[in-house]
Amino acid sequence: MDSILICGETPLYGRLRVQGSKNAALPILAATVLVPGISVLHNCPKIEDVRLMCKLLETVGCQVKWENHTVTVDASGVVCGTLPSEYVEKMRSSVIFMGAMLGRVGEVSLKYPGGCVIGKRPIDLHLKAMEQFGVQTRQTEEGIVANAGKMKGAHIIFPISSVGATENTILAAVYAEGTTVLEQAAREPEIQALCAFLRRAGAEIAGDGSGRIRIDGQRTLHGCEYTIPPDRIVTGTYLLGCMAAGGEICLENAPAEELSAVFHVLKRMGAELFICSGEVHCRRTHALKSAGNIMTEVYPGYPTDLQSPMLAVMALAEKNSSMTETIFENRFRIVEELNRMGAGIHIQGKTAFVPGARRLHGARVTAQELRGGAALVIAGLAAEGITAISGRQYIDRGYENIAKDFETLGAKVLYEENSGKDSRQPVTAAAGKENR
Ligand code: EPZ
Repeated sequence: MDSILICGETPLYGRLRVQGSKNAALPILAATVLVPGISVLHNCPKIEDVRLMCKLLETVGCQVKWENHTVTVDASGVVCGTLPSEYVEKMRSSVIFMGAMLGRVGEVSLKYPGGCVIGKRPIDLHLKAMEQFGVQTRQTEEGIVANAGKMKGAHIIFPISSVGATENTILAAVYAEGTTVLEQAAREPEIQALCAFLRRAGAEIAGDGSGRIRIDGQRTLHGCEYTIPPDRIVTGTYLLGCMAAGGEICLENAPAEELSAVFHVLKRMGAELFICSGEVHCRRTHALKSAGNIMTEVYPGYPTDLQSPMLAVMALAEKNSSMTETIFENRFRIVEELNRMGAGIHIQGKTAFVPGARRLHGARVTAQELRGGAALVIAGLAAEGITAISGRQYIDRGYENIAKDFETLGAKVLYEENSGKDSRQPVTAAAGKENR
């Protein structure tokens, strides 16, 4: 697969429009299964995970058309609840189809969605919630078979906040008989976007964004149009790119109101942030100060998806800092690669200790998952010399074209084709070619 080549130490200047939110688009695409008609979704990001979701919709009988950033789904003919394992294995968030399929056709069978490098990613909370609707679940060697029969509304209290389990339960509750109340539900903006789409289609939902959500079931849903909100994690990633490389950028259509925990840290590190009418301006011209001790938390706390990208910036700060990961059990895998660039990060339990005052240097490094890959891009923007990042396919799952975006802001970025080179070889930009 292609590598991304970055020649570092070039400050960023310019403006970019933020893409649609991956983590809002995925559950909303699953929710279109509940609509016996045509759903038109605007501002869908052109990323691999959305492509896989569209494929899954077609396998259960939907007609899907994707033109530019608009995906049109006709779910009038949804027929079966069997999700092919090839897609479920590639994208664990396909488990989000469970609630929608049970609501629409009363059954679903899918392969156990695997874990990934950031953690085991169990789905026990999803299954327990389905069972509270009266759903029969059976685990087989291949995976899970669930039959709904007549789903009845339930009072579901989640032991911990889970974005996916909250989304799956909302989807199942839409057609359940009576009222469903969720307690300790996830509050992420993506939950609110999912509920906004469902209300637009005729569902009766209240309380999303708080920990207590009420769904009055069995409303008839109808086709509608909806615009996917901008991606808060992509926004944070690009702001961290500016913090790493220095310079001044403006992000258009940025969801500033969803990023206050991140802005708080960026300002502490010396960012000058200006927010006006949907734009976020970020300037970093002085030396980076320490971020202090950060802990990832559920929304509205500091997001786990910006943990790895922040580590890359912390390494450049003039003083030490630390990052404690409380959401996933194994989300520091990228530290090894950052340390090959000179980050000097030390892990102890759930905390990464970052000494700071480091000058990163280019190297051949490998992305193994989405946000760790983004962290390597950010480190490459600040590193001395050239950084070659393989595993670009992981990054493409969530970013439309991170290399081209940073190039638009002035970074020196190239692609290196079929880079099966070993990691000890020096990186030469001659191997690279213009961004596609
Ligand atoms: C969503 O994953 C996001 N993915 C993740 O973004 C994000 O990191 C995560 O929420 C937390 O914000 C999508 O929206 C597609 P969880 P999800 O259920 O729903 C445990 C990215 O980079 N748990 O909130 O899978 C789980 O192991 C991705 O865009 C159970 O124990 O996350 C984790 O420790 C990565 N049992 C914690 O809860 C369950 O049944 C939070 O997971 C479910 C979850």
